[in-house]
Amino acid sequence: MRKLILALLVLVLLVPAQLAFAQDDMMDFDCGTDEEVTIKYFGDPVGSHPEAEEAIIEGFQELCPNITVERNEGSASVTDLIAFYLTAFEAESSDLDVIRVDVIWPGQLAEHLIDMSEYASQEHIDAQLPALIDNNTIDGRLVALPLRIGFGMLYYRSDLLEKYGYDAPPATWDELEEMAAAIQAGEREEGMDEFWGFVWQGNAYEGLTCDALEWHVSATGENFLQSDGTISALSDASVAIYEQAASWVDTISPPGVVSYQEEEARAVWDAGNAAFMRNWPYAYTLSQESENIPAFDVAPLPAGESGQGASTLGGWHIGVSKYSENQEAAAAFAVYMTSVEGQKTYSLITTSPPAAVELYEDPEIIEAMPFASPDVVDITTARPSNFAKDRYNEVSTLYFTAVHSILTGEEDADVALELLELDLEALFEEE
Ligand code: GLC
Repeated sequence: MRKLILALLVLVLLVPAQLAFAQDDMMDFDCGTDEEVTIKYFGDPVGSHPEAEEAIIEGFQELCPNITVERNEGSASVTDLIAFYLTAFEAESSDLDVIRVDVIWPGQLAEHLIDMSEYASQEHIDAQLPALIDNNTIDGRLVALPLRIGFGMLYYRSDLLEKYGYDAPPATWDELEEMAAAIQAGEREEGMDEFWGFVWQGNAYEGLTCDALEWHVSATGENFLQSDGTISALSDASVAIYEQAASWVDTISPPGVVSYQEEEARAVWDAGNAAFMRNWPYAYTLSQESENIPAFDVAPLPAGESGQGASTLGGWHIGVSKYSENQEAAAAFAVYMTSVEGQKTYSLITTSPPAAVELYEDPEIIEAMPFASPDVVDITTARPSNFAKDRYNEVSTLYFTAVHSILTGEEDADVALELLELDLEALFEEE
């Protein structure tokens, strides 16, 4: 009895102390301004998880009721989104206050974004994966605060693998091809006319750069543009892997895959019409919610001729426009969104692994994202944005255009890759 009273006493004393601590924490939050202002945030596209950003905006407005955050949905195509940002920034438009910054864009957008280290505390910055802070620091300025990471993964229908007698997901592209073809043939025979083996991102846009880079590195062990500027797009192994990918179109992958972005691939998968899908972590919760997917799991992407698989690093960060008329309020929102609390909310709803290191030990995060690990940043393949900086968009456009021409059969792989090498050389010679 005495123990019980003691325990109750501890509870009565501790709980309000903790609440008071949380409130203090919130009372300390710097909204940047007392004025009534509206800021425009350019966020996730339609079809992803708008509720994650809405939850963050709600939490922010409780702390800073004088700041209204207007959420705008950005384009689903990263290639269209960068074009939109660049047009607005070049016109020095004050229409954008806070934007999502793709992991490949700090060098591309640095001159248009403010230095967030003037607004975020050192503690806030130190809480993030160091590689991301490095990635976002351009000429000593921290141009975006990390929000989350992403990486390419292989989704597979575990029920179908079992049904067709496979006890593990494919370790190589050849195995994937064979399994996809067998499952597709079996399911079609059972009347699933729309069923396909493998769906992925084949449209001519940034997403194809991500998928193709995974093929390239798995085949050759190298990036097509290395961190010291060496160009290695063309080799026997690279020609072979791009030809192999082209052979998937209209065999194990739908003919329309050459116009698929993430959401088109996911639509086929979500309808229960694909055995395998290459996609990002965001598709994990959405796959759990699908009524047409009896069982699925995720695995690393298959290996190619190099003997290893590769996964492209993705992810999103938050930056504030230099042309914003409400920079303080905009920076306060960016800081709130990327705080450990903000990241946790965002991460749990979207199953996108966070940027804050400590969240990888959070039981809720571990349960929601069993595939997440803070080491991912070191083992994934980065697109060549650190080398290319403000030329990255051009590099990527040359690359995905060349790969797309191979996929559609417009150009032979060796010719397309040779031309790509010449174009890349010319691009960097111009400097
Ligand atoms: C995901 C990734 C991003 C990548 C994009 C390509 O959003 O997080 O880094 O550029 O897909 O479509």
